[in-house]
Amino acid sequence: MCGIIGFTGKLEAQEILLEGLEKLEYRGYDSAGIAYFKENGSISIRKTAGKVKDLRAICDENTATCGIGHTRWATHGGVTNANAHPHKCGNVALIHNGIIENYHELVATYDLEKDLISETDTEVAAALFNKFYDGENPIAAIQKVVPLLKGSFAFCIIFKNNPDMIYAVRNVSPMVAATCKDGSFIASDLTAFIQYSKKYFIVPEYAILTMSKEGISLQELDGTPIEPEFLEVNWDITAAQKDGYPTFMLKEINEQPAAITRTIAPRIHNGLPDFSADNIPESLFENCHDITIIACGTAMYAGMVGKTLIQDFLGIPVTVAIASEFRYEKPVITEDSLVIVVSQSGETIDTLEALRLAKTKTAKTLAIVNVKGSSIARESNYVLYTHAGPEIAVASTKAYTVQTAAFYLIACKLGLVQNKLTKTEALEFIQNLQNVSDNIAEILKLSANIEELTKRMLNATDTFFIGRGLDYTLSMEGALKLKEISYIHAEAYAAGELKHGTIALISEGVPVIALATQGHVYSKVISNIREVKARGAYVILLSMEENVTDASICDVHIPLPKVPDQFAIFEAVVVLQMIAYYTSTGKGLNADQPRNLAKSVTVE
Ligand code: M6R
Repeated sequence: MCGIIGFTGKLEAQEILLEGLEKLEYRGYDSAGIAYFKENGSISIRKTAGKVKDLRAICDENTATCGIGHTRWATHGGVTNANAHPHKCGNVALIHNGIIENYHELVATYDLEKDLISETDTEVAAALFNKFYDGENPIAAIQKVVPLLKGSFAFCIIFKNNPDMIYAVRNVSPMVAATCKDGSFIASDLTAFIQYSKKYFIVPEYAILTMSKEGISLQELDGTPIEPEFLEVNWDITAAQKDGYPTFMLKEINEQPAAITRTIAPRIHNGLPDFSADNIPESLFENCHDITIIACGTAMYAGMVGKTLIQDFLGIPVTVAIASEFRYEKPVITEDSLVIVVSQSGETIDTLEALRLAKTKTAKTLAIVNVKGSSIARESNYVLYTHAGPEIAVASTKAYTVQTAAFYLIACKLGLVQNKLTKTEALEFIQNLQNVSDNIAEILKLSANIEELTKRMLNATDTFFIGRGLDYTLSMEGALKLKEISYIHAEAYAAGELKHGTIALISEGVPVIALATQGHVYSKVISNIREVKARGAYVILLSMEENVTDASICDVHIPLPKVPDQFAIFEAVVVLQMIAYYTSTGKGLNADQPRNLAKSVTVE
């Protein structure tokens, strides 16, 4: 939530900041702003409610070479010009990602009310830094203020009388930095500056970063110097561009075959799963009696697939926990429990805190994470990186399929290690997993048909997704996708559960997306579909039958390539993603930036 960027160096800062904000806009797009040093050393601010393009329209021409920029996802205070960042107070201007939880107390204790013009917690921090800034020594002000703050924060701060310098400090909220021949960069994530440097480092929590035109220096709050630990990314700026697609979401849907292959291929040796290059020992799977999967949103629905697969396939009990609930529960896990946390960004605060709680009970924590070096990846005992490449669209697509593929690898490894699968069975299972990319490529060819059928969805106010077993887990993901980008109410139901209440909501023309890919419950699902069809539902059926012409079952049938049941979800989910996508664009909405949402949820 909220994107931040800072630059100081040899180049003109404004365009670097604006372009960086455009790349970070997926983190929040309620308002945007920049601050920079003018030639006379004073600080100039441009900010507005709206998107980065609105900010661009109010920027002047200037040659400043040091500045900070912000794109906001509102938490405290509405979407107004005054609440937009940067916030300036006296001799200090700053941008912030996070939430200062004790801002009311700080206002009272330090008598800051008179300094405030916005409704934000961030402005309180600006006022506090200003109060402790003596006009000369920014580090001393930071050392005094940071211990007073409760909550999460990533701050980039500029101080009058220290032109061309940026200071940064963080707790929880992510911040990465780089230095190269052009200058020094800092941002919420490296997509903002990757065209300048592929080498970067994660700003350690509670360290003070000082950026000047000459380079950077890092120190603990008490002044002890720290050496930054540099990482290097294995993708470049083209991976974070639309590459000819009208939206990032459509691009990312189409990237799924390659993303799955990139994720599974390095973990398959001689046809069997092998995590040795990830430093994940077999012992992690040997003694695990039960598994708890923790995640949020789409990552959690990938976990639901993992649960159904592992439980049904191997008979190992699996619980899926919503991270925001788990973190405040009393978890029933032991040192023999395997805890798997799943996160695309690796920064989702609820998942991170849930991981921290789980680690107090077991040392067997495994993170399935997409973003290299992210907090969840760093803090988990073991990490299995997915290789989806940067996911920019708010609605997660390729991250889901690679997370799901990771669960298939884990299930197979568990089965082998615990002697629940024979080598022959495992070889066949992995072969089927390797076929998934090609099968998805076939499904992607259906995009025009799917776009056509979504015309029927555009005026819907309610929709239902139904299925049993793996199809039910998929229904949840399909419903979430439709809700978040088309704003149509969508609910997922275990098909057999409908008649216990929900079927009352089915009336003439209500779209029901029915999944029937699981052979052992196929006839049961078909009966449930007939029940909704008989009550007037408009049924879109996904199944592996070549033809379903029986009008008492469905209005539209989408045939999926025939694969073993366990693997049908990969094809089916891509259809669901496209249904959501084309419904959104058919309604004229921005599928990449749905209202009220942001990509990385780094606040509670
Ligand atoms: O970065 P994470 O995978 O931890 O994010 C979890 C959810 O916030 C995320 O999947 C969210 O539900 C997506 N917008 C769904 O498309």
